[in-house]
Amino acid sequence: MCSIIGYLGDGSAAPILVKGLKRMEYRGYDSVGVATISGNHITLRKGVGKVAEVNNAIKLDMLLGSVGIGHTRWATHGGVTETNAHPHPSSSGEVAIVHNGIIDNFEELKKELQQKGYVFKSETDSEVIANLLQHNFDQTKDVKKSMIQTVSSLKGNYAFVAVFEDGTLTAARFHEPLIIGVGKNGYFISSDVLGFIEHTDEVIYPDNREFIIINLNGIQFFDFDGNPVQHQITKVSKELADVYKGDYAHFTLKEISEQPDTILKAGESTRMELDLTTEFVKHAKNLYLTGSGTSYNAALVAKHIFSKYAKIKIESIISSEVAHSPNNFDQQSILIALSQSGESADVLEAVKIAQKEGAKIISIVNIMTSSLVQSSSISIGLNCGPEIGVAATKSFTAQLSILYKIADKLCGGCIGLDLDKVSTCVTKILSDQTKVQDIARNLKTISDIYVLGRGIHYAIASEASLKLKELTYIHAEGLPGGELKHGPLALMDSNVFVIIINPNDSTYVDTLASAHQIKARGAKIIGISDKPNEVYDYWIEIPEINEALFPLIEIIPIQLLAYYAALEKDTDPDYPRNLAKSVTVK
Ligand code: F6R
Repeated sequence: MCSIIGYLGDGSAAPILVKGLKRMEYRGYDSVGVATISGNHITLRKGVGKVAEVNNAIKLDMLLGSVGIGHTRWATHGGVTETNAHPHPSSSGEVAIVHNGIIDNFEELKKELQQKGYVFKSETDSEVIANLLQHNFDQTKDVKKSMIQTVSSLKGNYAFVAVFEDGTLTAARFHEPLIIGVGKNGYFISSDVLGFIEHTDEVIYPDNREFIIINLNGIQFFDFDGNPVQHQITKVSKELADVYKGDYAHFTLKEISEQPDTILKAGESTRMELDLTTEFVKHAKNLYLTGSGTSYNAALVAKHIFSKYAKIKIESIISSEVAHSPNNFDQQSILIALSQSGESADVLEAVKIAQKEGAKIISIVNIMTSSLVQSSSISIGLNCGPEIGVAATKSFTAQLSILYKIADKLCGGCIGLDLDKVSTCVTKILSDQTKVQDIARNLKTISDIYVLGRGIHYAIASEASLKLKELTYIHAEGLPGGELKHGPLALMDSNVFVIIINPNDSTYVDTLASAHQIKARGAKIIGISDKPNEVYDYWIEIPEINEALFPLIEIIPIQLLAYYAALEKDTDPDYPRNLAKSVTVK
């Protein structure tokens, strides 16, 4: 949700930290701050807004010193204010911290510390770490001892980086990501490799329940009891550094445009795992799919194709509902967890629940260094490169491509999966965006959009409405076509736009009938189909393809529509308000 970063080395810390924060802004972006050490003092600047805005205003990158920490925030406890922005100094200012996660027992700790005279300025849970660490350091005068005491008092999920006045950097990890970069001239600590990838591709992944101390003598790792831990350095792919927009105005448009390629590459880096998954799925007693948001919508599509084509029953459960829904997880069960980030707290929680009952976990995930991969027996990589735009686009079609591959293998090729053809169709849709741009202009003042589909297209309608909500802030809702007359028809009037997902397949005639019912109530209709019809006020043509594969292509024009409508409404498509790319809180 938030991103944290720390640096100690020969270079000037502030510009390195600010650049790293910009690259990780997808994780959270309501406020930003940096603290560095210069002349044995902590200097700190922070403000509300995106990294570039705040940096322009208060020159975060001009802070002096070669040791520092930085943060971008996605508010959980306390409003979006400068005071609540990180870093948080301790009340004496001798320690400052940046934190990602939630400290569950912060109120209790805060009271205890206030009674001891420590002063709190913010409404955040995070500030308690600064004063707790300061208190423990005041007592012990020893960085290691103060870290052991601090982590033993904190409850919740967290990763934090702290800087001490003498230039020591410390960090701790408990169920939140934290990665160390080992550069030629310095060390980096970050929530994501992207925070430092342009400086080094040599990394160390600390385990859960570990803390780190970095000073001029080097780096040391300890478990929470203070026992030293040894780690190997591993190399990560330099491709991760490819997070520039290039000629595109936004990451979202770049990522939508990459789909002809990413659909082809999906799962290709982990072919063996894909084959293995097919075998496991074939022999499992109970099969489940789980995910959140877009990843859950991919699970809905998969449920359909698995049962229709492979004749395999698989249940899809929203990850945050797993704890509250009856299920039969046991040793013969498989839970397939879908996640772009591999860090969604809801997904990790669902995995934990299934694992406790002995279920095997297979993940389909983009970030192969994520916590989800660490918790899975098998992981299939989306292989679609970094997705920076907060709204999931290319990761969705990569998830679908992999799920189609599995289903197609399971039924001996009965789907006739032809991803080359899919890729060509997507290229065709992307080649002329003028029609979609024209339609987007009409959405500028609209307050409600419905997206209607039947059968498998209802799953795409749900994903389409999620994209429209996120990018345009217009109320959007996916509707199963047949349900229209059971209630939603009451909402149809001339102020409403309805997107009808209507490829020429077995759902075509029934969906067309729904379109007529809507049109008769005065609503405007955008038809997405390979076949024109006069009922559509606007027709977005999609190419003809094997009927099983329409879901892979029909989402593309809606991603584009949501993107262009966001531009019309002057919202930032890459960073929708109130959202974060990886939702690591429950
Ligand atoms: C939608 C979106 C979110 C994510 C959801 C799950 O565009 O981005 O709904 O799909 O937060 O994220 P992952 O897939 O990283 O677990």
